[in-house]
Amino acid sequence: MSTDTASSDRHVLVAVAWPYANGLSHLGHIAGAYLPADIFARYHRVAGHRVLMVSGTDAHGTPITVKADQEGVTPRDIVERYNPRFHEQWERLGIAFDLFTTTMTENHREVTWDLFRTLHANGFVETRTTEQFFDPEAGRFLPDRYVEGTCPRCGAEDARGDQCDGCGATLDPIDLIDPRSKLTGATPQPRETEHYFLLLPRLQEELEAWLETREGWRGHVINWAKGFVKEGLQERAITRDLSWGIPIPPELDISTDASQKRIYVWFEAVIGYLSAAKEWAQRQGDPDAWKAWWQNPDAESYYFIGKDNVPFHAVFWPAELMGYNQGAEAPLNLPTDVPANQYVTFRGSKASKSRGVGKSLLDYLDVYGPDELRYALATILPEQADTDLAEDELVRRVNDELVATWGNLVNRVLSMTRKNFDGVVPEPGERDDRDRALLTTVDGHLAAQARLMERVELRHGLKEALAAAQAVNGYLNALEPWKTAKEDRDRTATTLWTALQAISGINVAFAPYTPFAAQRLHEWLGGDGQLADHGWRRAEVPAGTQLAKPSPLFSKMETATDEA
Ligand code: MF3
Ligand code: ZN
Repeated sequence: MSTDTASSDRHVLVAVAWPYANGLSHLGHIAGAYLPADIFARYHRVAGHRVLMVSGTDAHGTPITVKADQEGVTPRDIVERYNPRFHEQWERLGIAFDLFTTTMTENHREVTWDLFRTLHANGFVETRTTEQFFDPEAGRFLPDRYVEGTCPRCGAEDARGDQCDGCGATLDPIDLIDPRSKLTGATPQPRETEHYFLLLPRLQEELEAWLETREGWRGHVINWAKGFVKEGLQERAITRDLSWGIPIPPELDISTDASQKRIYVWFEAVIGYLSAAKEWAQRQGDPDAWKAWWQNPDAESYYFIGKDNVPFHAVFWPAELMGYNQGAEAPLNLPTDVPANQYVTFRGSKASKSRGVGKSLLDYLDVYGPDELRYALATILPEQADTDLAEDELVRRVNDELVATWGNLVNRVLSMTRKNFDGVVPEPGERDDRDRALLTTVDGHLAAQARLMERVELRHGLKEALAAAQAVNGYLNALEPWKTAKEDRDRTATTLWTALQAISGINVAFAPYTPFAAQRLHEWLGGDGQLADHGWRRAEVPAGTQLAKPSPLFSKMETATDEA
Protein backbone atom coordinates (compact mmCIF):
# COMPACT_ATOMS: atom_id res chain seq x y z
CA MET A 1 0.00 0.00 0.00
CA SER A 2 2.50 2.61 -1.03
CA THR A 3 2.43 5.21 -3.76
CA ASP A 4 3.68 3.24 -6.72
CA THR A 5 5.73 4.83 -9.43
CA ALA A 6 2.97 4.45 -12.00
CA SER A 7 0.61 6.66 -10.04
CA SER A 8 3.26 9.31 -9.44
CA ASP A 9 3.27 9.86 -13.21
CA ARG A 10 -0.26 11.16 -12.97
CA HIS A 11 -0.35 14.84 -13.83
CA VAL A 12 -3.26 16.78 -12.36
CA LEU A 13 -3.93 20.39 -13.30
CA VAL A 14 -5.99 22.12 -10.64
CA ALA A 15 -7.38 25.21 -12.36
CA VAL A 16 -9.08 27.66 -10.02
CA ALA A 17 -11.41 30.51 -10.99
CA TRP A 18 -9.59 33.84 -11.29
CA PRO A 19 -11.06 36.26 -8.75
CA TYR A 20 -11.69 39.79 -9.91
CA ALA A 21 -9.13 42.10 -8.39
CA ASN A 22 -11.72 44.57 -7.13
CA GLY A 23 -12.06 43.32 -3.56
CA LEU A 24 -11.26 40.47 -1.24
CA SER A 25 -12.88 37.07 -1.11
CA HIS A 26 -15.62 36.23 1.33
CA LEU A 27 -16.62 32.83 2.66
CA GLY A 28 -18.99 32.15 -0.23
CA HIS A 29 -16.12 32.37 -2.73
CA ILE A 30 -13.85 30.31 -0.51
CA ALA A 31 -16.36 27.48 -0.08
CA GLY A 32 -17.34 27.74 -3.75
CA ALA A 33 -13.96 27.41 -5.41
CA TYR A 34 -10.70 28.00 -3.54
CA LEU A 35 -11.07 25.64 -0.60
CA PRO A 36 -12.37 22.68 -2.64
CA ALA A 37 -9.56 23.22 -5.16
CA ASP A 38 -6.99 23.23 -2.38
CA ILE A 39 -8.45 20.15 -0.66
CA PHE A 40 -8.44 18.31 -3.98
CA ALA A 41 -4.87 19.42 -4.79
CA ARG A 42 -3.62 18.41 -1.35
CA TYR A 43 -5.23 14.98 -1.67
CA HIS A 44 -3.43 14.43 -4.98
CA ARG A 45 -0.12 15.69 -3.63
CA VAL A 46 -0.32 13.32 -0.65
CA ALA A 47 -1.20 10.51 -3.05
CA GLY A 48 2.04 11.24 -4.89
CA HIS A 49 0.57 12.71 -8.06
CA ARG A 50 2.10 15.67 -9.89
CA VAL A 51 -0.16 18.61 -9.15
CA LEU A 52 -0.07 22.02 -10.78
CA MET A 53 -2.50 24.41 -9.14
CA VAL A 54 -2.78 27.83 -10.73
CA SER A 55 -4.89 30.95 -10.70
CA GLY A 56 -4.45 34.69 -10.31
CA THR A 57 -6.36 37.90 -10.15
CA ASP A 58 -8.60 38.71 -13.06
CA ALA A 59 -7.34 42.23 -13.74
CA HIS A 60 -9.67 43.26 -16.53
CA GLY A 61 -13.40 43.56 -16.91
CA THR A 62 -15.93 46.04 -15.68
CA PRO A 63 -15.80 45.08 -11.99
CA ILE A 64 -12.29 46.57 -11.93
CA THR A 65 -13.06 49.69 -13.98
CA VAL A 66 -16.25 50.40 -12.04
CA LYS A 67 -14.29 50.27 -8.80
CA ALA A 68 -11.52 52.45 -10.23
CA ASP A 69 -14.06 55.02 -11.44
CA GLN A 70 -15.74 55.09 -8.03
CA GLU A 71 -12.44 55.81 -6.32
CA GLY A 72 -10.98 58.08 -8.96
CA VAL A 73 -7.90 55.88 -9.42
CA THR A 74 -6.66 53.79 -12.35
CA PRO A 75 -7.70 50.16 -12.86
CA ARG A 76 -4.02 49.25 -12.47
CA ASP A 77 -4.01 50.86 -9.02
CA ILE A 78 -6.92 48.62 -8.02
CA VAL A 79 -5.19 45.45 -9.20
CA GLU A 80 -1.92 46.41 -7.55
CA ARG A 81 -3.68 47.15 -4.29
CA TYR A 82 -5.58 43.85 -4.07
CA ASN A 83 -3.10 41.42 -5.56
CA PRO A 84 -0.83 41.32 -2.47
CA ARG A 85 -3.85 40.98 -0.20
CA PHE A 86 -4.92 37.89 -2.14
CA HIS A 87 -1.49 36.42 -1.53
CA GLU A 88 -1.89 37.20 2.15
CA GLN A 89 -5.27 35.51 2.39
CA TRP A 90 -4.09 32.37 0.58
CA GLU A 91 -1.06 32.16 2.84
CA ARG A 92 -3.12 32.54 5.99
CA LEU A 93 -5.83 30.07 4.97
CA GLY A 94 -3.28 27.61 3.59
CA ILE A 95 -4.47 27.69 -0.02
CA ALA A 96 -1.31 26.40 -1.65
CA PHE A 97 -1.15 27.61 -5.23
CA ASP A 98 1.85 26.60 -7.28
CA LEU A 99 1.38 29.99 -8.89
CA PHE A 100 -1.07 32.77 -8.17
CA THR A 101 -0.43 35.46 -10.74
CA THR A 102 -2.55 38.06 -12.52
CA THR A 103 -3.86 38.56 -16.05
CA MET A 104 -1.95 41.86 -16.13
CA THR A 105 1.34 40.20 -17.16
CA GLU A 106 3.15 40.40 -20.48
CA ASN A 107 3.21 36.61 -20.57
CA HIS A 108 -0.58 36.45 -20.35
CA ARG A 109 -0.92 39.02 -23.15
CA GLU A 110 1.42 36.97 -25.36
CA VAL A 111 -0.45 33.73 -24.72
CA THR A 112 -3.79 35.48 -25.32
CA TRP A 113 -2.47 36.84 -28.63
CA ASP A 114 -1.32 33.37 -29.62
CA LEU A 115 -4.83 32.01 -29.02
CA PHE A 116 -6.44 34.96 -30.82
CA ARG A 117 -4.15 34.76 -33.84
CA THR A 118 -4.39 31.00 -34.18
CA LEU A 119 -8.17 31.00 -33.88
CA HIS A 120 -8.22 33.76 -36.50
CA ALA A 121 -5.87 31.86 -38.82
CA ASN A 122 -7.94 28.69 -38.33
CA GLY A 123 -11.12 30.49 -39.40
CA PHE A 124 -12.87 30.57 -36.03
CA VAL A 125 -12.50 34.32 -35.43
CA GLU A 126 -13.87 36.93 -37.86
CA THR A 127 -15.16 40.50 -37.72
CA ARG A 128 -18.89 41.32 -37.69
CA THR A 129 -20.82 44.57 -37.57
CA THR A 130 -23.24 44.79 -34.67
CA GLU A 131 -25.37 47.18 -32.74
CA GLN A 132 -24.03 48.23 -29.41
CA PHE A 133 -25.22 50.61 -26.73
CA PHE A 134 -23.86 54.13 -26.95
CA ASP A 135 -24.29 56.56 -24.05
CA PRO A 136 -25.35 59.87 -25.67
CA GLU A 137 -24.44 61.87 -22.57
CA ALA A 138 -20.99 60.36 -22.11
CA GLY A 139 -20.37 60.20 -25.85
CA ARG A 140 -19.03 56.68 -25.81
CA PHE A 141 -19.92 53.04 -26.28
CA LEU A 142 -20.87 51.24 -23.10
CA PRO A 143 -19.16 48.07 -21.91
CA ASP A 144 -21.52 45.23 -20.92
CA ARG A 145 -21.56 45.83 -17.23
CA TYR A 146 -22.15 49.54 -17.64
CA VAL A 147 -25.61 48.64 -18.85
CA GLU A 148 -28.26 47.42 -16.40
CA GLY A 149 -31.87 46.52 -16.97
CA THR A 150 -34.55 43.87 -16.74
CA CYS A 151 -33.58 40.29 -17.62
CA PRO A 152 -35.35 39.16 -20.82
CA ARG A 153 -35.40 35.57 -19.52
CA CYS A 154 -36.62 35.79 -15.94
CA GLY A 155 -37.72 39.39 -15.45
CA ALA A 156 -35.23 40.20 -12.68
CA GLU A 157 -34.89 43.97 -12.62
CA ASP A 158 -31.24 44.23 -11.73
CA ALA A 159 -29.66 42.13 -14.48
CA ARG A 160 -26.24 43.23 -15.70
CA GLY A 161 -25.50 43.54 -19.40
CA ASP A 162 -23.46 40.35 -19.50
CA GLN A 163 -25.25 38.16 -17.01
CA CYS A 164 -28.34 37.82 -14.86
CA ASP A 165 -27.74 36.70 -11.28
CA GLY A 166 -31.43 35.90 -10.96
CA CYS A 167 -31.50 33.04 -13.46
CA GLY A 168 -27.82 32.61 -14.31
CA ALA A 169 -28.34 33.39 -18.00
CA THR A 170 -25.51 34.93 -19.97
CA LEU A 171 -26.87 37.97 -21.73
CA ASP A 172 -26.18 40.42 -24.49
CA PRO A 173 -26.79 43.95 -23.14
CA ILE A 174 -28.78 44.84 -26.25
CA ASP A 175 -31.45 42.32 -25.17
CA LEU A 176 -32.09 43.94 -21.77
CA ILE A 177 -35.53 45.41 -21.18
CA ASP A 178 -35.56 49.07 -20.00
CA PRO A 179 -31.78 49.44 -20.27
CA ARG A 180 -30.00 52.24 -18.42
CA SER A 181 -26.42 53.46 -18.42
CA LYS A 182 -24.57 52.88 -15.19
CA LEU A 183 -22.34 55.80 -16.10
CA THR A 184 -24.94 58.56 -16.44
CA GLY A 185 -28.30 56.89 -15.90
CA ALA A 186 -29.23 57.87 -19.48
CA THR A 187 -31.13 55.51 -21.75
CA PRO A 188 -28.44 54.10 -24.06
CA GLN A 189 -28.95 54.07 -27.84
CA PRO A 190 -27.98 51.21 -30.17
CA ARG A 191 -25.34 52.17 -32.76
CA GLU A 192 -23.31 50.19 -35.29
CA THR A 193 -19.80 49.11 -34.48
CA GLU A 194 -17.39 46.40 -35.66
CA HIS A 195 -16.05 43.59 -33.49
CA TYR A 196 -14.33 40.24 -33.62
CA PHE A 197 -16.49 37.20 -33.04
CA LEU A 198 -15.78 33.62 -32.04
CA LEU A 199 -17.66 31.52 -34.59
CA LEU A 200 -19.09 28.99 -32.20
CA PRO A 201 -21.54 27.49 -34.72
CA ARG A 202 -18.52 26.09 -36.56
CA LEU A 203 -17.64 24.13 -33.42
CA GLN A 204 -21.20 23.07 -32.58
CA GLU A 205 -20.91 19.43 -33.60
CA GLU A 206 -17.49 18.92 -32.13
CA LEU A 207 -18.58 20.45 -28.84
CA GLU A 208 -21.70 18.32 -28.68
CA ALA A 209 -19.69 15.17 -29.37
CA TRP A 210 -17.08 16.10 -26.77
CA LEU A 211 -19.70 16.75 -24.08
CA GLU A 212 -21.11 13.29 -24.78
CA THR A 213 -17.73 11.79 -23.86
CA ARG A 214 -17.59 13.46 -20.41
CA GLU A 215 -17.99 11.04 -17.53
CA GLY A 216 -18.70 11.66 -13.87
CA TRP A 217 -19.58 15.33 -14.25
CA ARG A 218 -22.00 16.83 -11.77
CA GLY A 219 -25.54 16.73 -13.09
CA HIS A 220 -26.12 20.46 -12.96
CA VAL A 221 -22.96 21.17 -14.96
CA ILE A 222 -23.27 18.61 -17.75
CA ASN A 223 -27.01 19.10 -18.13
CA TRP A 224 -26.63 22.84 -18.42
CA ALA A 225 -23.78 22.54 -20.93
CA LYS A 226 -25.53 19.97 -23.13
CA GLY A 227 -28.77 21.91 -23.05
CA PHE A 228 -27.04 25.15 -23.93
CA VAL A 229 -25.16 23.67 -26.89
CA LYS A 230 -28.25 21.84 -28.11
CA GLU A 231 -30.20 25.11 -28.31
CA GLY A 232 -27.80 26.11 -31.06
CA LEU A 233 -24.63 28.13 -30.49
CA GLN A 234 -24.44 31.75 -31.60
CA GLU A 235 -21.46 33.72 -32.81
CA ARG A 236 -20.05 35.49 -29.80
CA ALA A 237 -18.28 38.84 -29.64
CA ILE A 238 -14.79 38.58 -28.19
CA THR A 239 -13.83 42.26 -28.36
CA ARG A 240 -15.38 45.26 -26.65
CA ASP A 241 -15.22 49.05 -26.84
CA LEU A 242 -13.05 49.69 -23.82
CA SER A 243 -9.79 51.27 -22.83
CA TRP A 244 -8.85 48.76 -20.09
CA GLY A 245 -8.03 45.25 -21.19
CA ILE A 246 -5.74 43.34 -23.50
CA PRO A 247 -5.43 45.03 -26.90
CA ILE A 248 -6.16 43.16 -30.12
CA PRO A 249 -2.94 41.82 -31.72
CA PRO A 250 -1.56 44.91 -33.55
CA GLU A 251 -1.78 43.48 -37.07
CA LEU A 252 -5.47 42.59 -36.54
CA ASP A 253 -6.53 45.72 -34.64
CA ILE A 254 -9.76 47.40 -35.81
CA SER A 255 -9.94 50.20 -33.22
CA THR A 256 -11.15 53.63 -34.39
CA ASP A 257 -11.16 57.11 -32.83
CA ALA A 258 -14.73 56.66 -31.59
CA SER A 259 -14.09 53.20 -30.25
CA GLN A 260 -10.99 51.85 -28.72
CA LYS A 261 -11.16 48.06 -28.74
CA ARG A 262 -9.96 45.51 -26.26
CA ILE A 263 -10.24 41.73 -26.01
CA TYR A 264 -13.27 40.77 -23.96
CA VAL A 265 -12.31 39.74 -20.45
CA TRP A 266 -14.19 36.46 -20.67
CA PHE A 267 -12.28 35.42 -23.78
CA GLU A 268 -8.90 36.12 -22.17
CA ALA A 269 -9.35 35.36 -18.45
CA VAL A 270 -9.89 31.62 -19.07
CA ILE A 271 -6.67 31.62 -21.11
CA GLY A 272 -5.03 32.40 -17.76
CA TYR A 273 -5.04 28.70 -16.89
CA LEU A 274 -2.66 28.11 -19.78
CA SER A 275 -0.60 31.29 -19.43
CA ALA A 276 -0.15 30.71 -15.69
CA ALA A 277 1.16 27.19 -16.36
CA LYS A 278 3.66 28.70 -18.81
CA GLU A 279 4.66 31.40 -16.33
CA TRP A 280 5.12 28.76 -13.65
CA ALA A 281 7.38 26.77 -15.99
CA GLN A 282 9.47 29.85 -16.78
CA ARG A 283 9.86 30.56 -13.08
CA GLN A 284 10.97 26.95 -12.59
CA GLY A 285 13.74 27.56 -15.09
CA ASP A 286 12.22 24.86 -17.29
CA PRO A 287 10.12 26.70 -19.92
CA ASP A 288 8.66 23.47 -21.36
CA ALA A 289 7.52 22.06 -18.02
CA TRP A 290 3.89 23.21 -18.58
CA LYS A 291 3.51 20.70 -21.40
CA ALA A 292 3.29 17.75 -19.01
CA TRP A 293 -0.12 19.13 -17.89
CA TRP A 294 -1.34 20.57 -21.17
CA GLN A 295 -0.05 18.47 -24.05
CA ASN A 296 0.31 15.11 -22.38
CA PRO A 297 -2.92 13.32 -23.39
CA ASP A 298 -2.97 11.39 -20.10
CA ALA A 299 -2.84 14.52 -17.96
CA GLU A 300 -6.06 15.46 -16.15
CA SER A 301 -7.49 18.93 -15.59
CA TYR A 302 -10.13 19.99 -13.08
CA TYR A 303 -11.69 23.45 -13.07
CA PHE A 304 -12.92 24.70 -9.71
CA ILE A 305 -15.50 27.40 -10.19
CA GLY A 306 -18.85 28.66 -8.96
CA LYS A 307 -21.92 27.77 -10.98
CA ASP A 308 -22.17 31.27 -12.49
CA ASN A 309 -18.99 30.45 -14.40
CA VAL A 310 -20.20 27.18 -15.92
CA PRO A 311 -20.88 28.61 -19.42
CA PHE A 312 -17.32 29.89 -19.71
CA HIS A 313 -15.64 26.72 -18.52
CA ALA A 314 -17.89 23.97 -19.85
CA VAL A 315 -18.54 25.51 -23.27
CA PHE A 316 -16.62 28.65 -24.29
CA TRP A 317 -13.17 27.71 -22.99
CA PRO A 318 -13.37 24.20 -24.50
CA ALA A 319 -14.46 25.88 -27.75
CA GLU A 320 -11.44 28.19 -27.71
CA LEU A 321 -9.18 25.19 -27.17
CA MET A 322 -10.86 23.16 -29.91
CA GLY A 323 -10.51 25.93 -32.46
CA TYR A 324 -6.91 26.46 -31.43
CA ASN A 325 -6.15 22.75 -31.67
CA GLN A 326 -7.29 22.36 -35.30
CA GLY A 327 -4.29 21.08 -37.20
CA ALA A 328 -2.01 21.42 -34.17
CA GLU A 329 0.78 18.90 -33.77
CA ALA A 330 0.48 18.88 -30.00
CA PRO A 331 -3.12 19.77 -29.10
CA LEU A 332 -3.93 21.24 -25.70
CA ASN A 333 -6.04 19.22 -23.28
CA LEU A 334 -9.70 20.01 -22.84
CA PRO A 335 -11.15 19.92 -19.30
CA THR A 336 -11.38 16.50 -17.68
CA ASP A 337 -14.02 17.80 -15.31
CA VAL A 338 -15.59 21.09 -14.29
CA PRO A 339 -16.73 20.37 -10.72
CA ALA A 340 -18.62 23.64 -10.35
CA ASN A 341 -20.19 24.35 -7.02
CA GLN A 342 -23.60 25.73 -6.22
CA TYR A 343 -23.95 28.82 -4.07
CA VAL A 344 -23.45 29.27 -0.39
CA THR A 345 -26.27 31.42 0.84
CA PHE A 346 -25.33 33.77 3.60
CA ARG A 347 -28.13 34.94 5.85
CA GLY A 348 -30.61 34.35 3.12
CA SER A 349 -28.93 36.27 0.31
CA LYS A 350 -26.33 35.02 -2.14
CA ALA A 351 -22.91 35.97 -0.92
CA SER A 352 -21.75 37.85 -3.97
CA LYS A 353 -18.74 40.11 -3.78
CA SER A 354 -19.94 42.29 -6.61
CA ARG A 355 -23.03 43.10 -4.54
CA GLY A 356 -21.02 43.85 -1.44
CA VAL A 357 -22.65 41.39 0.97
CA GLY A 358 -20.82 39.73 3.85
CA LYS A 359 -17.49 40.02 5.59
CA SER A 360 -14.19 39.16 3.97
CA LEU A 361 -12.20 36.02 4.61
CA LEU A 362 -9.49 38.08 6.30
CA ASP A 363 -12.04 39.35 8.83
CA TYR A 364 -12.78 35.74 9.74
CA LEU A 365 -9.11 34.78 9.88
CA ASP A 366 -8.59 37.49 12.49
CA VAL A 367 -10.94 35.55 14.76
CA TYR A 368 -10.72 31.88 13.78
CA GLY A 369 -7.79 29.57 13.12
CA PRO A 370 -7.30 28.52 9.48
CA ASP A 371 -7.80 24.80 10.12
CA GLU A 372 -10.97 25.43 12.11
CA LEU A 373 -12.36 27.69 9.39
CA ARG A 374 -11.40 25.24 6.64
CA TYR A 375 -13.03 22.37 8.49
CA ALA A 376 -16.24 24.29 9.09
CA LEU A 377 -16.47 25.34 5.44
CA ALA A 378 -15.60 21.86 4.20
CA THR A 379 -18.65 20.46 5.99
CA ILE A 380 -20.95 22.75 4.00
CA LEU A 381 -19.30 22.69 0.53
CA PRO A 382 -22.17 23.34 -1.90
CA GLU A 383 -21.28 20.41 -4.15
CA GLN A 384 -24.75 19.28 -5.09
CA ALA A 385 -27.11 21.97 -3.85
CA ASP A 386 -27.07 25.49 -2.46
CA THR A 387 -26.13 25.41 1.20
CA ASP A 388 -26.86 27.85 3.94
CA LEU A 389 -24.08 29.33 5.98
CA ALA A 390 -25.04 30.11 9.55
CA GLU A 391 -22.20 31.17 11.77
CA ASP A 392 -23.37 29.33 14.90
CA GLU A 393 -23.53 26.17 12.79
CA LEU A 394 -19.87 26.62 11.84
CA VAL A 395 -18.98 27.01 15.52
CA ARG A 396 -21.00 23.95 16.47
CA ARG A 397 -19.38 21.74 13.85
CA VAL A 398 -15.88 22.72 14.86
CA ASN A 399 -16.54 22.22 18.57
CA ASP A 400 -18.68 19.07 18.39
CA GLU A 401 -16.98 17.30 15.51
CA LEU A 402 -13.47 18.49 14.88
CA VAL A 403 -12.46 19.24 18.46
CA ALA A 404 -14.62 16.68 20.28
CA THR A 405 -14.06 13.74 17.94
CA TRP A 406 -10.65 14.21 16.40
CA GLY A 407 -8.70 16.78 18.42
CA ASN A 408 -9.62 15.27 21.78
CA LEU A 409 -8.87 11.76 20.55
CA VAL A 410 -5.33 12.76 19.63
CA ASN A 411 -4.90 14.52 22.93
CA ARG A 412 -6.19 11.62 24.98
CA VAL A 413 -4.00 9.02 23.33
CA LEU A 414 -0.86 11.14 23.47
CA SER A 415 -1.54 12.01 27.13
CA MET A 416 -2.10 8.37 28.13
CA THR A 417 1.08 7.36 26.34
CA ARG A 418 2.91 10.10 28.17
CA LYS A 419 1.50 9.13 31.53
CA ASN A 420 2.05 5.40 31.22
CA PHE A 421 5.04 5.06 28.89
CA ASP A 422 6.88 8.38 29.27
CA GLY A 423 5.63 9.48 25.86
CA VAL A 424 7.44 6.65 24.06
CA VAL A 425 5.42 4.46 21.67
CA PRO A 426 5.22 1.14 23.55
CA GLU A 427 6.09 -2.25 22.10
CA PRO A 428 2.69 -3.90 21.53
CA GLY A 429 1.86 -7.19 23.24
CA GLU A 430 -0.19 -9.96 21.62
CA ARG A 431 -2.64 -8.31 19.21
CA ASP A 432 -6.16 -9.72 18.98
CA ASP A 433 -9.08 -9.36 16.56
CA ARG A 434 -10.23 -6.07 18.04
CA ASP A 435 -6.82 -4.48 17.45
CA ARG A 436 -6.54 -5.80 13.92
CA ALA A 437 -10.13 -4.85 13.12
CA LEU A 438 -9.53 -1.24 14.10
CA LEU A 439 -6.62 -0.82 11.71
CA THR A 440 -8.54 -2.59 8.94
CA THR A 441 -11.39 -0.15 9.54
CA VAL A 442 -9.09 2.86 9.37
CA ASP A 443 -7.46 1.61 6.18
CA GLY A 444 -10.92 0.95 4.72
CA HIS A 445 -11.98 4.53 5.42
CA LEU A 446 -8.79 5.84 3.81
CA ALA A 447 -9.46 3.79 0.67
CA ALA A 448 -13.12 4.81 0.54
CA GLN A 449 -12.13 8.43 1.01
CA ALA A 450 -9.62 8.21 -1.86
CA ARG A 451 -12.40 7.03 -4.19
CA LEU A 452 -14.56 9.99 -3.13
CA MET A 453 -11.71 12.47 -3.54
CA GLU A 454 -11.08 11.17 -7.07
CA ARG A 455 -14.70 11.94 -7.88
CA VAL A 456 -14.37 15.39 -6.27
CA GLU A 457 -16.84 14.48 -3.53
CA LEU A 458 -14.86 16.31 -0.92
CA ARG A 459 -17.64 16.80 1.57
CA HIS A 460 -18.28 13.07 1.71
CA GLY A 461 -14.55 12.45 1.83
CA LEU A 462 -14.40 14.35 5.09
CA LYS A 463 -17.10 12.12 6.56
CA GLU A 464 -14.83 9.12 6.04
CA ALA A 465 -12.09 10.82 8.03
CA LEU A 466 -14.51 11.62 10.83
CA ALA A 467 -15.92 8.09 10.82
CA ALA A 468 -12.42 6.70 11.19
CA ALA A 469 -11.85 8.91 14.24
CA GLN A 470 -15.16 7.76 15.71
CA ALA A 471 -14.06 4.14 15.25
CA VAL A 472 -10.98 4.79 17.39
CA ASN A 473 -13.11 6.43 20.07
CA GLY A 474 -15.33 3.35 20.09
CA TYR A 475 -12.29 1.10 20.33
CA LEU A 476 -10.90 3.04 23.29
CA ASN A 477 -14.25 3.00 25.06
CA ALA A 478 -14.37 -0.77 24.67
CA LEU A 479 -10.78 -1.42 25.75
CA GLU A 480 -10.55 1.25 28.44
CA PRO A 481 -6.77 1.69 28.55
CA TRP A 482 -7.16 4.16 31.43
CA LYS A 483 -8.43 1.19 33.51
CA THR A 484 -6.15 -1.55 32.21
CA ALA A 485 -3.16 0.72 32.89
CA LYS A 486 -3.43 -0.23 36.57
CA GLU A 487 -3.46 -4.02 36.16
CA ASP A 488 -2.33 -5.05 32.66
CA ARG A 489 0.59 -3.15 31.23
CA ASP A 490 0.87 -5.42 28.20
CA ARG A 491 -2.75 -4.94 27.20
CA THR A 492 -2.43 -1.19 27.70
CA ALA A 493 0.67 -1.11 25.49
CA THR A 494 -1.17 -2.95 22.72
CA THR A 495 -4.17 -0.65 22.93
CA LEU A 496 -2.14 2.54 22.84
CA TRP A 497 0.16 1.26 20.11
CA THR A 498 -2.89 0.37 18.01
CA ALA A 499 -4.59 3.71 18.67
CA LEU A 500 -1.41 5.56 17.69
CA GLN A 501 -1.20 3.64 14.41
CA ALA A 502 -4.84 4.48 13.73
CA ILE A 503 -4.20 8.16 14.48
CA SER A 504 -1.29 8.18 12.07
CA GLY A 505 -3.63 6.95 9.32
CA ILE A 506 -6.44 9.33 10.20
CA ASN A 507 -4.02 12.23 10.14
CA VAL A 508 -3.52 11.55 6.43
CA ALA A 509 -7.29 11.57 5.93
CA PHE A 510 -7.61 14.99 7.58
CA ALA A 511 -4.50 16.46 5.94
CA PRO A 512 -6.26 17.94 2.87
CA TYR A 513 -8.80 19.65 5.13
CA THR A 514 -6.74 20.76 8.13
CA PRO A 515 -3.17 20.91 6.76
CA PHE A 516 -1.55 22.97 9.51
CA ALA A 517 -2.71 20.64 12.28
CA ALA A 518 -1.86 17.60 10.18
CA GLN A 519 1.73 18.69 9.73
CA ARG A 520 2.01 19.45 13.46
CA LEU A 521 0.64 16.04 14.40
CA HIS A 522 2.90 14.38 11.84
CA GLU A 523 5.84 15.90 13.72
CA TRP A 524 4.42 15.06 17.16
CA LEU A 525 4.28 11.43 16.01
CA GLY A 526 7.96 11.57 15.13
CA GLY A 527 7.40 11.85 11.37
CA ASP A 528 10.08 13.50 9.26
CA GLY A 529 9.77 16.11 6.53
CA GLN A 530 6.39 16.95 5.06
CA LEU A 531 3.40 14.74 5.75
CA ALA A 532 2.40 15.33 2.13
CA ASP A 533 5.44 13.37 0.93
CA HIS A 534 4.50 10.18 2.73
CA GLY A 535 1.74 8.81 0.51
CA TRP A 536 -2.00 8.26 0.94
CA ARG A 537 -1.60 5.49 3.48
CA ARG A 538 -1.20 4.86 7.16
CA ALA A 539 2.48 5.17 7.98
CA GLU A 540 3.61 3.07 10.93
CA VAL A 541 4.70 4.87 14.07
CA PRO A 542 7.39 2.47 15.29
CA ALA A 543 7.61 1.34 18.90
CA GLY A 544 10.31 3.32 20.64
CA THR A 545 9.38 6.61 18.95
CA GLN A 546 9.51 9.54 21.36
CA LEU A 547 6.26 11.49 21.00
CA ALA A 548 5.95 15.20 21.52
CA LYS A 549 4.30 16.61 24.62
CA PRO A 550 0.65 16.93 23.65
CA SER A 551 -1.05 20.28 23.33
CA PRO A 552 -4.47 20.95 21.79
CA LEU A 553 -4.48 20.26 18.06
CA PHE A 554 -7.34 22.72 17.47
CA SER A 555 -8.93 25.50 19.42
CA LYS A 556 -12.62 25.66 20.10
CA MET A 557 -14.43 28.38 18.26
CA GLU A 558 -15.63 30.71 20.98
CA THR A 559 -18.02 33.31 19.71
CA ALA A 560 -19.81 34.23 16.57
CA THR A 561 -18.27 37.32 14.97
CA ASP A 562 -21.57 38.31 13.45
CA GLU A 563 -23.02 41.35 15.15
CA ALA A 564 -26.25 41.34 13.19
N1 MF3 B 1 -13.26 36.91 -12.57
C1 MF3 B 1 -14.35 36.11 -13.03
C2 MF3 B 1 -15.22 35.73 -11.86
O1 MF3 B 1 -14.79 35.88 -10.74
C3 MF3 B 1 -13.88 34.94 -13.83
C4 MF3 B 1 -13.24 33.81 -13.12
S1 MF3 B 1 -12.77 32.46 -13.97
C5 MF3 B 1 -11.82 32.85 -15.31
O2 MF3 B 1 -16.35 35.32 -12.04
F1 MF3 B 1 -11.10 31.87 -15.60
F2 MF3 B 1 -12.58 33.10 -16.30
F3 MF3 B 1 -11.08 33.88 -15.04
ZN1 ZN C 1 -32.62 36.37 -15.45
